[in-house]
Amino acid sequence: MASIDMRNIVKKYGDGFPAVNDVSIDVQDGEFMILVGPSGCGKSTLLRMIVGLEDITSGDMMIGEKRVNDLAPRERNLAMVFQNYALYPHLSVYENIAFPLRLAKAPNAEVDEKVRAASKTLELDEHLERKPGNLSGGQRQRVAMGRAIVREADAFLFDEPLSNLDAKLRGQMRTEISRLQKKLGITTVYVTHDQTEAMTLGDRVAVLKRGVLQQLATPRELYENPGNLFVAGFIGSPPMNFLPVTVEGTAAKMPFGSVELPREKAEKAAGKGLLIAGIRPEHFEDASVKGDAPPGSTFRATVEVVEWLGNETYAYIPFEAPPEVEEQLRQLERDLDGEALHTQLVVSLDGTSRITEGEEAEIWVDGSKIHLFDPSTGENLTVDQEHAGRIVGHAMADAAEQPAAAG
Ligand SMILES: Nc1ncnc2c1ncn2[C@@H]1O[C@H](COP(=O)(O)OP(=O)(O)O)[C@@H](O)[C@H]1O
Ligand SMILES: [Mg+2]
Repeated sequence: MASIDMRNIVKKYGDGFPAVNDVSIDVQDGEFMILVGPSGCGKSTLLRMIVGLEDITSGDMMIGEKRVNDLAPRERNLAMVFQNYALYPHLSVYENIAFPLRLAKAPNAEVDEKVRAASKTLELDEHLERKPGNLSGGQRQRVAMGRAIVREADAFLFDEPLSNLDAKLRGQMRTEISRLQKKLGITTVYVTHDQTEAMTLGDRVAVLKRGVLQQLATPRELYENPGNLFVAGFIGSPPMNFLPVTVEGTAAKMPFGSVELPREKAEKAAGKGLLIAGIRPEHFEDASVKGDAPPGSTFRATVEVVEWLGNETYAYIPFEAPPEVEEQLRQLERDLDGEALHTQLVVSLDGTSRITEGEEAEIWVDGSKIHLFDPSTGENLTVDQEHAGRIVGHAMADAAEQPAAAG
């Protein structure tokens, strides 16, 4: 096993466009690292540079203590676990796992020992004589991992291994990969565009936007302390709400009413004029369900649509944003490949809420959970730096997209 240290990695393809722009990520020995971001942000390019399938334009790729920029893929001892498993249909599970050892002309006794050890760990013992075609998706994934295990690779690399599966199987496989990675304790880099996979699998998550690392942090840090609008909008489902806000004293004035902020937060917004407030759907509640007056603020709003899901209820409340904020939110929607953020508030209420469509309801909101963003840079002014991991990208539109001086 080994650590993987990416230092100021740049990748420019033929036309000079920086697909990966000065990215530094330190993957610790045994760590499960996620690379996440919308399509085209450079995830696969970065993974392919780790494994050696793509040249590195500048920067240092360190595996263990060794610089591997100029090593061929087979000299790097990493195992890419492919999306389609790349199993041989005519070979048994045993021979599929043994394949790299056969290629290396290992003696039979060694092959047998290693295949049996891997199959025990992967709980494939009873399937060793079967063909891949007769296995479930989860079992096939395990065979593919078995092949990586017998090679004694220093790290596993996955590129969106679950993206072609239906939702139920995806959930099962996610659990499976997480369980095996913990059991094996092997360094893993896993690429996905799915924030749920990122949140559930990663020890730490690197969020990328257009080739630039935005934040490198634990899932909890990303959720609680997103460094900028992009990370805030990407992590969490349904996504964080973004609203125009001006702060006067400790009062955050928003389209639907005024919310009391903790003093430390309010002070960070002092004199800053029009800002963007970020509030997650789950930090609202139906005031009548909430019971005895909790700390926080309530406001009245007309609910346009209600979706009852049993365990929770989503309520949609339209609002209007001034042009400065609306433009920024439209840009954010484009960056996130996402849904409309600028026109309605989405609140998640308890499933017992009796709020109905068209009703003016009393909604409670937890003012301590509000984030305040600078509308020109996207920076989170209220972030708790100590619990935010490493924040890299700030600028929403401008600075971050300029090709950085490479090298
Ligand atoms: N072989 C290539 N030649 C030129 N541009 C490429 C090539 N591969 C990827 N790109 C560009 O690099 C950027 C990042 O691509 P990629 O790493 O595949 O993104 P992701 O895996 O995050 O979807 C994209 O803008 C893509 O068009
Ligand atoms: Mg990709």
